[in-house]
Amino acid sequence: MHGNGYMSGFGNEFATEALPGTLPEGRNSPQKVAHGLYAEQLTGTAFTAPRHANRRSWLYRIRPAAMHGAFSPFQQSQFHNDFQSGPVTPDQLRWDPLPLPDAPTDFVEGLFTMAGNGSAASQNGIGIHLYAANRSMQGRYFYNADGELLIVPQLGRLRIATELGVLEVEPQEIALIPRGVRFRVELLDDTARGYVCENFGAMFRLPDLGPIGSNGLANPRDFLSPKAAFEDVDAPEGKPFELVGKFQGHLWRADIGHSPLDVVGWHGNYAPCKYDLRRFNTIGTISYDHPDPSIFLVLHSPSDTPGTSNIDFAIFPPRWLVAQDTFRPPWFHRNIASEYMGLIHGAYDAKAEGFVPGGSSLHNSMTGHGPDAATFDKASNADLSTPDVISNTMAFMFETRAVIRPTTQALAAHHRQRDYQACWAGLEKHFIG
Ligand SMILES: [Fe+2]
Repeated sequence: MHGNGYMSGFGNEFATEALPGTLPEGRNSPQKVAHGLYAEQLTGTAFTAPRHANRRSWLYRIRPAAMHGAFSPFQQSQFHNDFQSGPVTPDQLRWDPLPLPDAPTDFVEGLFTMAGNGSAASQNGIGIHLYAANRSMQGRYFYNADGELLIVPQLGRLRIATELGVLEVEPQEIALIPRGVRFRVELLDDTARGYVCENFGAMFRLPDLGPIGSNGLANPRDFLSPKAAFEDVDAPEGKPFELVGKFQGHLWRADIGHSPLDVVGWHGNYAPCKYDLRRFNTIGTISYDHPDPSIFLVLHSPSDTPGTSNIDFAIFPPRWLVAQDTFRPPWFHRNIASEYMGLIHGAYDAKAEGFVPGGSSLHNSMTGHGPDAATFDKASNADLSTPDVISNTMAFMFETRAVIRPTTQALAAHHRQRDYQACWAGLEKHFIG
């Protein structure tokens, strides 16, 4: 790729070119574009969306995106949006990490759908997927027409070469790939594994801060979008590249004679970005109790109901717990919202064992959960005169207003922990009448 580097800010109006003089001045679609390029607009919101919510970019590229062969079904049966319409278990659920593949497997081939709700057709809801891969995408490019992708690496670094430039991410960083943007995932280590949140609804945005003030949580300048970068590569004669698209819950493939990563310059506010979760400004109590976990909100996708998200992406990062006369770990609870958790790094403070990096848990609407018996006993008897310094951890949650429906393959998976509920079995009756 020609070009590299990042620009700072969340949802900014950027202008970037890998060759000088690429971007037209004073207009978007001149009669002739510099360097013999084509102009093409890519929109992520309705043309008529309010200005503060309007997202689009202008791309100046070697060939327009329309140039490829006809689509036919792409065979990858484990990556889909079939969340079933029948009964869904209210059980607490937990899984070990997705096993790493033995056979050569790239990012698209290694996606495994765990759960979800809503649909691309209804433009709301979530698809929750895991990936496990051991090789880079070669001669293959992917885009998702169904939603924005929030990629959460847990193992191995990724180099995500997109139409708008290159993002390099490592575990504890996240990448956001807008709906429709074409990209190739390359592995920078031998293996890669992680989580993917597919957002069918409104694009992720930074939450309002209310009384917190004008700074805090994820700060906008820590989000990085790539500078323009391109490759001018044609497929070998008779050996076309492959464009894989996800459209209405299914995968499709088409021959393409060139790399679609051929955008020499672009401007606008519809672009991929990355964020280092270790930059999160973590806020908590300095007196008693602890706030609801919405205080750990990194990004959210709003729904049509004010204050109620389609998806919240929250993290549980290193922090100090200093509350007095307080049970310091997360409390026992039942929520109207549904919660899918993952662990990127270290240990999670509400579970003594069983929830390991790369693992997942799912606690659906009104299903009781909370600390396990060992954590409860320890925290109930802890010395509160000193802080609990929680370090070496990074857990996260995809929280949704609608119930998260596990897929048939997730329920049947060998890596599901069928004895998960036993972690609460040791909670003793302490009642004294
Ligand atoms: Fe919870």
